Amino acid sequence: MKILSIESSCDETACAIVENGRHEIASTIASQVEEHKLYGGVVPEIASRRHIESISKITKNTLDKASLSFKDIDALAVTYAPGLIGALLVGVNFVKGLSLALNLPIIPVHHLRSHIAANYITHIDLEPPFICLVASGGHSHIVEVLDYTNFNVIGKTRDDAAGEAFDKAARTMGLPYPGGIEMDKIAEFGDCEFIKLPIPKVNGSEYDFSFSGLKTAIINQVNTYKMKNNVSDLSSDKKALYGFAASFRKSVVDILVSKFIKAAENLNYKKLVLAGGVSANSLLRRQLNQECINRNWKLYMPKINLCGDNATMVGSQAYYEYVSGHIGNMSLNATASLSIEKN
Ligand code: KG4
Ligand code: ZN
Repeated sequence: MKILSIESSCDETACAIVENGRHEIASTIASQVEEHKLYGGVVPEIASRRHIESISKITKNTLDKASLSFKDIDALAVTYAPGLIGALLVGVNFVKGLSLALNLPIIPVHHLRSHIAANYITHIDLEPPFICLVASGGHSHIVEVLDYTNFNVIGKTRDDAAGEAFDKAARTMGLPYPGGIEMDKIAEFGDCEFIKLPIPKVNGSEYDFSFSGLKTAIINQVNTYKMKNNVSDLSSDKKALYGFAASFRKSVVDILVSKFIKAAENLNYKKLVLAGGVSANSLLRRQLNQECINRNWKLYMPKINLCGDNATMVGSQAYYEYVSGHIGNMSLNATASLSIEKN
C-alpha cells in the first residue's frame, strides 16, 4: 500500500511516499528555518504562508522523485494535530482537496505518534510494545506504546518542553534559532562543570518533567556572567560559551535519561525507543545508549534525518492508523493540542 503523506505542523513543509508503513520511496522537506531565524523563533503567520507557497511544489517534486503519479497512490495522510493551527490547516485542506479530486481516503495522523513511527522506518524489526521518550520542541513525554495505535502517557512536562528549553537557553547565549542544534555542537568542546545548575523537583508523578526552572537559572547565570565581565555577548569568550552550553545540555540530558530509565525499570520494559527533534542530541544518544548497554536492554533511535519533522514518519504511522480503521473524511479539522492517547 502506497501512502502519500503531508506534514506542515510547524516550520517544515514535507511530503513523502511510504510503502506499507516501513519503506520510504521518496521524501521532500522544505525548511523555513532561515526565515524564522531572523525573528529568533517560529512566526506562525509566516509559517502558514510559506506552507501554502510550497505544498503543491513539494508534492509534485516527491512524485517525480519516486517516478510515480497520483494514480499509483492508495491513500493520503496528513498531520492534523498537535501544532500551529494555521500551519496544520494548510496541510489538512490541501489533502482534503486531493482526496476529493482523486477519490482517495484520508488518514489523519497525530504528530507525536508519527515521531515515534520514524523508528519503524529506521528499524524494520521494531514492533510494539515498548516504552518511548518523545522529546521535541513542543512536547516531552514518556509513553508506553502498547500497540501501533494504543498509547499510555506515564509522564510529561509540566511547563517547557526539552527542545523549547534548549532553544530559549541558546538564545540567551546568543546562538541562532533553533538553538538546540547549535548548543549540541558547541557543547562538545565545553566543560560540563563550568556552572552548577539546580536539579528540578516535580511534585506528583515521578516521571513528569519540569524545565522552566532550569531555563531561568541558565538565563540568570549567563546575564550575571555578562555583567561581571562587562561584555554584551559571549561570542569572544569561547570558554564561557562552550561551558554554559555543555553544562546546560548535561543537566537536560541527565533529567531525560534518569526519568526514562526509571520508568522502564519500574514498568519492566527492556525495549526502549527515542523519538522527536531532541533525539538528534548527541549526548542524549550516547548517554542513553550506555545506560541500555549496562542493563542489556535494547535501544532504538531514529536515524538523524528522521529525528526532526518530516513526512516519512507521517506515512509510516498512517499505515498503522489505516489498518486500525482510523480513517478521516471531509469533515476533518486541524487541532492545535490533542493527547497522543486520543484517536
Ligand atoms: O520534533 P521537532 O523537529 O519539532 C517539534 O515537533 O517541535 O523538534 C524541534 C526541536 C527544537 O527545539 C530543536 O532545537 C530541537 O528539537 N533539536 C535539538 C537538536 N536537534 C533538534 N535539541 C538538542 N540537540 C539537538 N541536536
Ligand atoms: Zn515534531
